[in-house]
Amino acid sequence: MQISATANPAPVDDARLAEILANPGFGQHFTDHMLTYEWTPQDGWHDARVTPYGPLTLDPATAVLHYAQETFEGMKAYRHDDGSIWTFRPEQNAARMVRSSARLAFPELPVDEFVACVDALVEVDQRWVPDNSAGGEGEKSLYLRPFMFASEKFLGVRPAQHVTFMVIASPAGAYFKGGIKPVNLWLSETFTRAGRGGMGAAKTGGNYAASLAAQREAIEEGCDQVVFLDDQEFRYIEELGGMNLFFVHADGHIVTPETGTILEGITRASIIELAGKLGHSVEERKFSIDEWRDGVVSGEITEIFACGTAAVVTPVGELRSPRGVTAAPASTELTMRIRDALVGMQFGRTEDTFGWMHRV
Ligand code: PLP
Ligand code: COI
Repeated sequence: MQISATANPAPVDDARLAEILANPGFGQHFTDHMLTYEWTPQDGWHDARVTPYGPLTLDPATAVLHYAQETFEGMKAYRHDDGSIWTFRPEQNAARMVRSSARLAFPELPVDEFVACVDALVEVDQRWVPDNSAGGEGEKSLYLRPFMFASEKFLGVRPAQHVTFMVIASPAGAYFKGGIKPVNLWLSETFTRAGRGGMGAAKTGGNYAASLAAQREAIEEGCDQVVFLDDQEFRYIEELGGMNLFFVHADGHIVTPETGTILEGITRASIIELAGKLGHSVEERKFSIDEWRDGVVSGEITEIFACGTAAVVTPVGELRSPRGVTAAPASTELTMRIRDALVGMQFGRTEDTFGWMHRV
């Protein structure tokens, strides 16, 4: 594929960029460029281009605005201490977008083209990848957001005949304010995010729209994220609004929920392998909310953590629900070891024995 490039004539100046990178927050600042790639039945994927970052002009009848035919990905570019820039398992994000696209009735964007598009944007905006070599708060990266949407102007309900794939990028620090400390979770007994045969396993905007009323409840209850249960029995844990969960047991074994309707995280898959290397077996199975409550109370569950690209690995504190509060588990020791192993590899401080890192 060919990717054309038009440089931004007015990029953010160095002083402002340094200010942004010193304290990027999450999802607030965007780089100087964006990538666009379009699809029609006649021409297939065509006209890949990097252009100055800026607003889109959309017809009010653009299908995505009405029927939410959309998929997206979340990944990061990391700057190593030698200045080189790397992404983490980008072909896994590409493969997940293929699966999400199939569920959303989109055309397939080939894995190698997805990776080439992401690389092209990172390369052009490489000065936006934060440098952590001076220490400090650390672990800053460039968050990458590839997404695909129904760009056809048409109000009939059918798969769009004009599809647009884009990549934008945003420097990122910690997802949760206040750095790495246990996050309290709200158990939604009213809302589910996914059902059998639905879109739970796809990374599509609709799932996040479905999570927002519960997220609002969570915030009102002083919690950072929502725990969603299965839609059939309101009993089995699925995941958080934007992260997967792991439960560490006193005998060292770990359980991560699997119901068939969760978004299978790339961080989750990587931690399953990493934990194995650290000598901990990981079971993927249905895990009930009673097992959580009873396990923490009895001491059988010693740690709980959540993981995802944006949030990395975060210890879980209290579980709150209309029925009361389950205390935070006793420890965060293994959680932090797993976090360090993952982050160390992503930032090139420890050896990548899995071959997961991709040099841009
Ligand atoms: N579950 C949901 C609902 C998410 O939005 C995310 C974030 O991308 C994850 C899980 C974790 O996925 P990953 O580790 O691929 O970022
Ligand atoms: C990610 O971790 O990449 C996500 O998409 C989750 C979202 C809550 C930012």
